[in-house]
Amino acid sequence: MTDKLTIFDTTLRDGEQSPGASMTRDEKVRIAKALERMRVDVIEAGFPIASPGDFEAVHAVAKAVSSSTVCGLARALDKDIDRAGEALKPAQSARIHTFIATSPIHMKMKLRMEPDQVVEQAVRAVRRARQFTDDVEFSPEDAGRSETDFLCRVLEAVIDAGATTVNIPDTVGYNLPHQFGELIRVLIERVPNSDKAVFSVHCHNDLGLAVGNSLSAVLNGARQVECTINGLGERAGNAALEEVVMSVQTRQDIFPCKTDLDTSQIMTCSRLVSGITGFAVQPNKAIVGANAFAHESGIHQDGVLKSRETYEIMRAQDVGWMDNRIVLGKHSGRNAFRTRLQELGIEFETEEELNDAFSRFKVLADKKHEIFDEDLQALVTESGIDSENEWLKLVSLKVCSETGETPHATVSLWVDGDEAQADCLGSGPVDAAFKAIEKLISSGTELQLYSVNNITSGTDSQGEVTVRLEKGGRIVNGQGADTDIVIASAKAYVNAINKIIQRDRRAHPQLGDV
Ligand code: KIV
Ligand code: ZN
Repeated sequence: MTDKLTIFDTTLRDGEQSPGASMTRDEKVRIAKALERMRVDVIEAGFPIASPGDFEAVHAVAKAVSSSTVCGLARALDKDIDRAGEALKPAQSARIHTFIATSPIHMKMKLRMEPDQVVEQAVRAVRRARQFTDDVEFSPEDAGRSETDFLCRVLEAVIDAGATTVNIPDTVGYNLPHQFGELIRVLIERVPNSDKAVFSVHCHNDLGLAVGNSLSAVLNGARQVECTINGLGERAGNAALEEVVMSVQTRQDIFPCKTDLDTSQIMTCSRLVSGITGFAVQPNKAIVGANAFAHESGIHQDGVLKSRETYEIMRAQDVGWMDNRIVLGKHSGRNAFRTRLQELGIEFETEEELNDAFSRFKVLADKKHEIFDEDLQALVTESGIDSENEWLKLVSLKVCSETGETPHATVSLWVDGDEAQADCLGSGPVDAAFKAIEKLISSGTELQLYSVNNITSGTDSQGEVTVRLEKGGRIVNGQGADTDIVIASAKAYVNAINKIIQRDRRAHPQLGDV
C-alpha cells in the first residue's frame, strides 16, 4: 500500500513573514478557502499571539474552513499556547504547532537556556497544547544545525508527552539534500517511539534547496511536508507546494507515497496568492510560471505536436492551466459570471458583493472583448474591501502626458462621503496621479513598492498594479486592474489606503479618518 503524504501549507504564516507579504484577515480567509478546495490537509493560518490581527485571522480561518485541519503556531510558552487554543476554538479540526530552538547557537545566544531546560519547556508546551486538542505538532527550531543526539532526546520526550507530529525544520536553509535525507532516516531509526508520530519537514530556500531537501526527506521516511504556494516565505522562501506535490505525483516510480491534493487547483491558488501579496511569479518558475508549459524552440514545438510526452513530463491541465481560457464576454449574464467564478473557487458572501463585482465586470467587458479567468480573478482581488469600509473611492482620473511636457493629473475622489478634486504635476503620469491623491488625503504613508504586470498577453490586456504602503510600521498591499495602467495604479493606491484605514479602524474603532 502507498503511504499518504500530508501536505501542510504555511502560506498564511511563514509565507506572510516575507517582508511586504502581509495579508488582511479577509484575504487570508479567501486563500484558506482556496487551499481547502485544493484539499490541503493542514492550513497553518497564523501565529495568534503575534498580534490581535493574527489572532483574528486564525479565528476567522478556523470558522470558515471545515475539511482541512486549521493550525496555529505558538512558542513553547503557556501564554502562546493558550492564545492559539483560543483562536482555534471554532475549528472543526484544530492543530497547535509549538516550537523551541534546539541548535547550540540558538539555545546559547537567543534563548540563553541550557539543553535540559529546553527539553523541559518543550515537554511542558506539548502537554499544555494537548489540553486544547489531540493534534499537536512540535518543531525543534533550527533542527538542521542541531546535534543529532540532542534532537533524538528532545523528540523522544515530546512524543512521550503527546506530540502527534514532529517537524524537522531547516530554519536557515543550510542543509544539502543527501545530508537532510540522512538526518531524517537516522532520527526515525534512533528515536525509540518514532512510530508514534508523523515525521514532517519544513525547509527554507536560502541555497535554493528547499524542495530538494523536502523530497530527499520524503524518500527517507518523512510523511508530512510543510510548504507554501509559490514558495513564498521568510527570506528566500519555503519549499514551493506546487513543486513538491507535482514531483511526488510525476515520479510515482520513485516515491512510495501520494498526496490527496486536487492539483488542478494549483494555478488558481498561485494566482490568488501572487495577486493578494503583489509577489509576482517569475515566468520561468516551475509549474506556475507563464513559460512553464510554453515551447519556444521549433524542435520542441514540432515534437510536442507529434507527441506531447516528447518534451512534457506533466499535463498543463493537471495543474490548472486551461486550454481554452476565453470565458466570458460583454453579453455574458450575471449567472454565467457567478458560475464561472464558482468554478474558479470564488464565492461571494452577499448578493451585494456579487452585484458590485458584476458591475465592474460589465465595465471591463465594454473595454475588452475577451475576458479570461485571470481577468476575473483580478476583478475580485482588487476589491478586497467591503463597501462600508470604502473610506476612499476613485471617481475619475484625467492625465495629460506629452513629449517635452511635465505630466499632469486631475483626480476626483470620494473621501469619507464627500467629493473632492485636486490636480498635480509629476515626473510621470502615475507619479502625478499619486501626488494628486495625496494632496487630498495626506495619508502619512510611504510607498514601498510599485509594480505592474500584464494579466494576460496582448496590448489590450489589463495591467495589474500592486502598491505597497507603509504607515507606522504596518504594511499593506493594494491592488488595481484596468486596461489603462494609470487608472489601475490609482485604483491600487486607493485600495491600499482603504486597507490602512480599515486596519486603523479595527485597532481603534473610534477613529474617524486618517
Ligand atoms: O523555519 C522554522 O524553523 C519555522 C518554525 C516555526 C517551524 O518556521
Ligand atoms: Zn520557517
